[in-house]
Amino acid sequence: MKELFEKNVAWAQAVKEKDPSFFEQLSKQQAPEFLWIGCSDSRVPANEIVGLMPGELFVHRNVANMVVHTDLNCLSVIQYAVEYLKVKHVIVCGHYGCGGVRASVERKRLGLIDNWLLNVQDVQYIHKAYLTEGGDKTEVVNQVCELNVAEQVVNVCKTNIIKDAWLRGQKVTVHGWIYSIADGLLKDLGVNITKVEEIRSKYDAAVEGIKKRYA
Ligand code: CO
Repeated sequence: MKELFEKNVAWAQAVKEKDPSFFEQLSKQQAPEFLWIGCSDSRVPANEIVGLMPGELFVHRNVANMVVHTDLNCLSVIQYAVEYLKVKHVIVCGHYGCGGVRASVERKRLGLIDNWLLNVQDVQYIHKAYLTEGGDKTEVVNQVCELNVAEQVVNVCKTNIIKDAWLRGQKVTVHGWIYSIADGLLKDLGVNITKVEEIRSKYDAAVEGIKKRYA
């Protein structure tokens, strides 16, 4: 634990050296343009991946980057980010080899978290994306990781928070990305939605693309 505090002091000093007024400016307000909804996985640190500093990215993370319509926590984050911080972009970012998705694909019993991961099983059910005998497990997991991002993007778009923002004429785009832990690179899955009318077509096109890639 001591090491963490030492690292904290070193980090704060390094930031201050670059920009002496950094923390003073930041303590007055935050004005991030992006909301990141990602996985809790320790290998997918939101700010580092996209090279953004404190104050530039509003973040919500949970296991398997889910947007569940009864999750008051996630909904509150989205509402605050959209209505008060006025973020211009909401990014749902999944990652290949996600442990939550893998547990769902393998029907693993892990305890309380199984209930949360039923939401991933719903995604598998919608797309009939299951493990078959002799099939490549990694491929199924990665396909479900991608399909899950497309589903969660739609889940964001379906909320009254986003729909009301669009009705008000507020410009906010919802994006679906996936991150590769193996090479540190992001991929845009093509579900970039700017209005209600785009939800269906962009989702269908993205899902078709994903299914083709894994066929
Ligand atoms: Co994960």
